[in-house]
Amino acid sequence: MTALALESVSKTFPSGTVAVDALDLSVSDGEVMVLLGPSGCGKSTILRMVAGLEDPTDGLIRFDGEIANRWSPRERRVAMAFQDFALYPHMSVRGNLGFPLKLARQSPETVSERVADLAAALGVADTLERRPGQLSGGQKQRVAMGRAIIREPRVFLLDEPLSNLDSALRQGLRAEISSLVRSIGVTTIYVTHDQTEALTMADRVAILRDGRIEQLSTPHGAYRAPESLFVAAFLGTPRMNLLWATVYAYLDDRLLLDLGHQHVALPWSDPRVRDLVRYHGEQVIVGLRAEAVTPVGADHAGALRGIVRYAEHLGHETIAYLDVGGMAAGLDELTGTGHEAVMPVESSLRRWWRSRRDGPAEQAPDPEPVAEADPGRHEQQVAEFALRLPPYAAPKVGEIVAMHADLSQLHVFDRNGRRINTRGALSR
Ligand SMILES: Nc1ncnc2c1ncn2[C@@H]1O[C@H](COP(=O)(O)OP(=O)(O)O)[C@@H](O)[C@H]1O
Ligand SMILES: [Mg+2]
Repeated sequence: MTALALESVSKTFPSGTVAVDALDLSVSDGEVMVLLGPSGCGKSTILRMVAGLEDPTDGLIRFDGEIANRWSPRERRVAMAFQDFALYPHMSVRGNLGFPLKLARQSPETVSERVADLAAALGVADTLERRPGQLSGGQKQRVAMGRAIIREPRVFLLDEPLSNLDSALRQGLRAEISSLVRSIGVTTIYVTHDQTEALTMADRVAILRDGRIEQLSTPHGAYRAPESLFVAAFLGTPRMNLLWATVYAYLDDRLLLDLGHQHVALPWSDPRVRDLVRYHGEQVIVGLRAEAVTPVGADHAGALRGIVRYAEHLGHETIAYLDVGGMAAGLDELTGTGHEAVMPVESSLRRWWRSRRDGPAEQAPDPEPVAEADPGRHEQQVAEFALRLPPYAAPKVGEIVAMHADLSQLHVFDRNGRRINTRGALSR
């Protein structure tokens, strides 16, 4: 059942800022919905409208099917938790947990019963007589969450609750919150700009950009088949490799995605080719995540080649960043409209690349900035292609690496950043 629905909800502030733009979103009973997006995309404004702290300029908000736009925050029975999960320091855990019920004039028996039940669910039953100062960080957080939800809210709203914490604590608490809201079964909207939190905690995730939903799906669905370049670039570390490519359709043979100095070929039998032939002669954006490519021997047929520019040693893995002779397709290129994407002037690096790509390893020259003379043009950047390697791999700068790309994990976007291969293998 739908616990909460936003129907074409907009919020324009008096300053003229459109914080939320005709948003449709429904959250099922007991679901954990994560709103993910960069700072300023409207996440907090959405939560505040749900809580009744802010009126929508337009649209309807429904709780359990009933229109709630005119309901007071109290009538909505939502609980909201912010960054600081502050507890009353002079009260025991029992006092902290029971406080909202006391305020609501519940009988002492009811308070005591509900506190005992919730403390057991939170795993803090043995700390009821302690003060917050005598609790661990995780226990404090659990008690604070318990206090927020003890009145059994219709919806539990969390606005970036972990963003001020260090990463070890964040990881632990993310798992705690996730299992806690599920064990209690409370409908939850969790706001974050952290894609790892979103991917690990959500039943469904709404990825927001400029007050609109770019994609609404399971975390797995958004990661596996991003509907837009924005989603593709936002989810996953290292960031998806995104390169400009020109489409060449040879009717009797294959479809080539030309990256500039090498290409990716799709066989005519690939279902995505049907959608891609329309782009013959045009530029598109090709996306391959680091895990979609694996290093292979130099003589591997159809391998992509890259020159190692630098490597990051992350302990559990090493990420090599390669120059594959292609141009980076970032989001900057998509913000302006009507711009022609220009192929860059060839730099000495490009020329060197062309001459060396099949030859023995040799130190590459430093990359040069490319074609900046005309300020009206987009700045073109040489793509840094991320490749996952085992933990202790030590790729040498300038070394040439051959890679096999798993084309079932290839994403293609048009110049407006919309996914092209929607009928392709991935979305089936
Ligand atoms: N009270 C306000 N008055 C004017 N503009 C606001 C107000 N609150 C938020 N905004 C603007 O609305 C947009 C969305 O803000 P917000 O919902 O806080 O984003 P997020 O939580 O995703 O960072 C931003 O451009 C922000 O500056
Ligand atoms: Mg915010």
